[in-house]
Amino acid sequence: MHPLRRLACSRWSFLLNIRFNTSSSHMTIMPAWVIDRYGSNSVLRYTKNAAFPIINYPNEVIIQVHAAGLNPIDVSMRGGYGAASMAMKRDPLNVKQSGSEFPLILGRDVSGVIMECGLDVAPVYFKEGDEVWAAIPPWKQGSLAEFVVLSANEVSKKPKCLSHTEAAAIPYVAATAWSALVNTGGLTMDNCAKKRILILGGSGGVGTFSIQMLKAWGAHVTVTCSQNAERLVRGLGADHVVDYTAGPVEGPLRALEKFDLVLDNVGGATESWALGLLKPWCGAKYVTLVTPFLQNTDRLGVADGMLQTGVTVAAKALKHLTKGVHYRWGMFAPNGLALDDISEMVDAGKICAVVEAEFSFSQVPQAMLKVEKGHARGKTVVTVP
Ligand SMILES: NC(=O)c1ccc[n+]([C@@H]2O[C@H](COP(=O)([O-])OP(=O)(O)OC[C@H]3O[C@@H](n4cnc5c(N)ncnc54)[C@H](OP(=O)(O)O)[C@@H]3O)[C@@H](O)[C@H]2O)c1
Repeated sequence: MHPLRRLACSRWSFLLNIRFNTSSSHMTIMPAWVIDRYGSNSVLRYTKNAAFPIINYPNEVIIQVHAAGLNPIDVSMRGGYGAASMAMKRDPLNVKQSGSEFPLILGRDVSGVIMECGLDVAPVYFKEGDEVWAAIPPWKQGSLAEFVVLSANEVSKKPKCLSHTEAAAIPYVAATAWSALVNTGGLTMDNCAKKRILILGGSGGVGTFSIQMLKAWGAHVTVTCSQNAERLVRGLGADHVVDYTAGPVEGPLRALEKFDLVLDNVGGATESWALGLLKPWCGAKYVTLVTPFLQNTDRLGVADGMLQTGVTVAAKALKHLTKGVHYRWGMFAPNGLALDDISEMVDAGKICAVVEAEFSFSQVPQAMLKVEKGHARGKTVVTVP
């Protein structure tokens, strides 16, 4: 860990979980898009009176949002997806009433400027006025607001070469891809050269980021996508493209040399054939981002849902282990350190932001509808005045 980053991270007071309000801000309200219940797009409500975020832990920072990136999880969370697990993360002792998460602010990507730092945040790393970016964990209030509070561990200096709008297109998909490819898949900048990677669903947020990072690390990247996305993914560096709209991709993919890792952004039936594309008995991994984890906890409650999840993933992992390949689930994880590395790659010109659509703050419902319609070609970003 970078020594300065270590100083910016949690200290003894955070570890002891001491909560105290260190915020010196005199503001109490701010403009935001909120939801007061789960449902369709009509539950989105603009308010000028959302609660201003407060620094509750000394390692937190308040960020003035300049741009907010949207992700499929925003649409899902609007409809109540993951509510049981998020409630447990927000209130582990279960002392709050049901519905205490409302008014809930969506938006998982932020690019903005630090407005205030907690007492434990080392000025040498973060200080007021710094331009930063972050992926916001789904259990925290999001970025469709004028301000957001985050732990300094989750925040990173924004790449200098990007505008806020461009920067807001990267953190959530980058942190997800990092978690799936690096933490779960075991790939690193130093072991990727010549590895054969298959990305199922390469044209959306996670895919367009992953192609670029893997190419920067020297991997050979094959991608499945719609025919009309081929130009986009080839432009980002994909070596081989298979059009899934021309027919089942399993056959054309089976005809290729086997892969070291498959990143699955599509899910569903893919699991029945994609593991057969891996090189057996040499540590090859299938990592899927489409998991039933949150549906299980929504449907069965947190305890039974987690038990069901554990049994499912263990059974699948064991089944495939006997065939010499590894089955894994990839999960988003907030990661300021990874964003530090990615920021450097962006400033070095190795990764660019793929902004498909840009909306103003007054157009948040239209931006959510755009994400809900699917067929993403990169990212949808909202600029915040
Ligand atoms: N587990 C986690 O923590 C986590 C975190 C982030 C994302 N995710 C999940 O990972 C998936 C990808 O996320 P994302 O942000 O990249 O989503 P996205 O931006 O909506 O992109 C999905 C892409 O897949 C394409 N696609 C759809 N069906 C396909 C198929 N059969 N074959 C190939 N491409 C197909 C879509 O375009 P066309 O329909 O036009 O082909 C679209 O470009 C989503 O399911 C998301 O919910 C999970």
